[in-house]
Amino acid sequence: MEMGNLVVTGVEPLSRDAIILQTHAPWLGGAKPGQFGMLGGIPGVLLARPMSIMELRPEGNVAWQVRGVGKGTRTLLDLDLGTELHGWGPLGNSFQLGCTHPVLVGGGVGMAPLHFLYQEHYRGKGVTLIEGNKDRGGPFLEAWLDVDEADRYLSTTEDGSKGMKGLVTVPLEALLEVGQCDAVFACGPDPMLKAVESLALKYGVSCQVALEARMACGVGGCRGCWDPRHKMMVCCDGPVLEIQV
Ligand SMILES: Cc1cc2nc3c(=O)[nH]c(=O)nc-3n(C[C@H](O)[C@H](O)[C@H](O)COP(=O)(O)OP(=O)(O)OC[C@H]3O[C@@H](n4cnc5c(N)ncnc54)[C@H](O)[C@@H]3O)c2cc1C
Ligand code: FES
Repeated sequence: MEMGNLVVTGVEPLSRDAIILQTHAPWLGGAKPGQFGMLGGIPGVLLARPMSIMELRPEGNVAWQVRGVGKGTRTLLDLDLGTELHGWGPLGNSFQLGCTHPVLVGGGVGMAPLHFLYQEHYRGKGVTLIEGNKDRGGPFLEAWLDVDEADRYLSTTEDGSKGMKGLVTVPLEALLEVGQCDAVFACGPDPMLKAVESLALKYGVSCQVALEARMACGVGGCRGCWDPRHKMMVCCDGPVLEIQV
């Protein structure tokens, strides 16, 4: 784990309540997909906030997909270029590789770690990405994913205003039914992860989920991130959990 400054180099709107935050943070350069950083020094906010690494970019730049849900993340949406945050990371474990036909499933800003996984390891390898949101307002990472023609991108919205109508589990189950998937990687809201985990168990397919929890330290010191459902501390036992099928 390293500590250092993150200088804001870009704030790009993605939807009504989400942005891509670009920062210069070369000390995060060793991060692996699934890992996260603690972003501290957010103006007016005491504790640091955990955030998945979405992309390592050239020259020590790191991109994050941020949705404003409370004071900390809403403040991140409005930072001026040049603002200096500080933080620590990369933290937690990472996705394990080794499958040939994975499906990467992201709900909302849960797409961020899957974007990192796709760009680093699976782009152009014939994989399927499923990205779901409530409606066409997103935030969708489709444009950022720059999906290779060898791969397949599917989107879902609950109201059918973009892509397939329904939850991400609709196209996921269709792929599992026809045997077009030997592993699932997923990140998103807990109800979505529960549903994905049950499908993986039903079809006996390897499944890794990246979990979220409230976090104060990110390094195993405060026990604030205990996940009672999976009986683990998300920051140091996870955030990636392999579901036993
Ligand atoms: C490993 C990890 C990776 C994450 N990656 C991302 C990411 O890539 N992009 C992103 O936008 N967010 C991500 N989050 C969630 C983000 O950290 C929280 O939204 C943020 O900490 C909320 O802080 P706040 O001050 O804005 O909201 P608060 O004022 O602290 O809370 C606002 C609301 O959000 C709920 N909440 C707070 N934290 C969480 C959480 N971790 N999970 C579920 N609900 C929460 C609170 O209960 C409350 O209802 C991640 C969290 C973890 C643990
Ligand atoms: S966030 Fe402190 S122990 Fe996990």
